[in-house]
Amino acid sequence: MTNPYLRGQARPTRVANVGHRGAMGLRPENTLEGFELAFDLGADMVELDVHPSRDGHPVVLHDDRLGRTTDAGRRRPGGGAAFVSDLTLDELRALDAGTWFVEALERGAPPAPHGPTDDERRAWLTPGALAALGGGRVRPPSLEEVLLLARRRGRRVNVELKLVPRRYERLVAAVVEVVRRLGVEEQVLLSSFDHAGLAEAKRLAPELPVAALCVARLADPGRYVAEVLGGDAWNPGCVGEVDTLGFGAEAFARDGARALDRASVEGARARGVSVHTWTVNDPARLEALVALGVDAIITDYPNRLSRVIAPATSV
Ligand code: G3P
Ligand code: CA
Repeated sequence: MTNPYLRGQARPTRVANVGHRGAMGLRPENTLEGFELAFDLGADMVELDVHPSRDGHPVVLHDDRLGRTTDAGRRRPGGGAAFVSDLTLDELRALDAGTWFVEALERGAPPAPHGPTDDERRAWLTPGALAALGGGRVRPPSLEEVLLLARRRGRRVNVELKLVPRRYERLVAAVVEVVRRLGVEEQVLLSSFDHAGLAEAKRLAPELPVAALCVARLADPGRYVAEVLGGDAWNPGCVGEVDTLGFGAEAFARDGARALDRASVEGARARGVSVHTWTVNDPARLEALVALGVDAIITDYPNRLSRVIAPATSV
């Protein structure tokens, strides 16, 4: 079998429900606990972010520095300012990546926009769940651990290569090595804001689809991705200051989904380029994107998208 997100392949007919950093609204981001819950909530795919450890292993954390989502700053003065690539895999795996999340909720600072709702708190943020997440046992995972989980669950993984602004020279090769070693080529999609890095990935591993993350409104995204990049998917931002499809447009307030950039979406799909939108949590916008005909929606709340499209079972 071939990865269906490669350009020119028959894509899945259902819109993919992609859990952003796992289920970022309901669990600490980029943790096994979050990826497990995302799959439980019907996600076809989870999105995650990788950096290299000092000893070269791809590790799953979003920020370049450790301070926001781990206890590195509490362990030693200045530890929060360290880069992921300053620590070995073993040192990173000893950090606590869960307590900050519980403390943010207790401060009334939800870790993702649009929620959680009272119903979501009652279902997934129970006192027992928060005690476990804040108990010091949630770790930053290696990419290998997440890929093994996805293989066991029969779901997909969108690996975002964090290559801007820190241009890690060996990250792409290290990611390709672990994907091939675990035999999960059909379940993995690579994405990045570093499109030159994606071109390198395509040269190293043509069997893996690559997706161009975009915060600019492109003149012809299908042509750009297919012809300039030699890539497979266009990932337009759809939120806040990186909203490029038109949700923030004056016309959207008047005409709703009809005002979104249908020409770019249809132009991309006509060239065999998938359209994966991020990061959308508002139920009305989730419905508008499904109606628009995108291929995937990245959300912090996979449970909300599972109310619009049927929950996933396996790939
Ligand atoms: O892949 C979409 C999204 O994850 C890109 O932005 O900052 O959440 O990694 P960020
Ligand atoms: Ca990301």
